[in-house]
Amino acid sequence: MAKRTIELLGAEVLRKPAKPVSELDDELRSLIDDMYETMRHAEGIGLAGPQIGESRRVVVIEALDEESEPLALVNPQVVESSKEVDRAEEGCLSLPGLTAVVERPARVTVEAVDPQGEPLRIEADDLLARVLQHEIDHLDGILILDKVSPLKRRMLLRKWKKRT
Ligand code: NI
Repeated sequence: MAKRTIELLGAEVLRKPAKPVSELDDELRSLIDDMYETMRHAEGIGLAGPQIGESRRVVVIEALDEESEPLALVNPQVVESSKEVDRAEEGCLSLPGLTAVVERPARVTVEAVDPQGEPLRIEADDLLARVLQHEIDHLDGILILDKVSPLKRRMLLRKWKKRT
């Protein structure tokens, strides 16, 4: 396993739609190990391939409570979203120091395969629903900056430029 460099706002790879994964091989599983290590080192709760410069549709999500397991999802897709929405503050490892209140569907169903190729169907609410949507957004080149008002976005970008 190796910790990888996290790409920050401004990196082109964060804005590109990531490519679907076609081979579930050892190389992919080693990439997933690197993603777990990188996420944990940065104390994040989720990480998507493009954030370590790999434009591939892979995400990892940390165990969010004592009953859950960490998740590695290959080619994840939101297949159902609730009409009901929730608003909560989000951060992003690619935008260190910034947070924004983001509105998202409160519940989603996500389909994916695991690193062994087993199909997964996850019905999520609360924090898991939010993290899944945030990470899947990364696979489409979408950041939390795109989910807020133009005014809030300008404020966030101003703060970003001033960071030391
Ligand atoms: Ni993020």
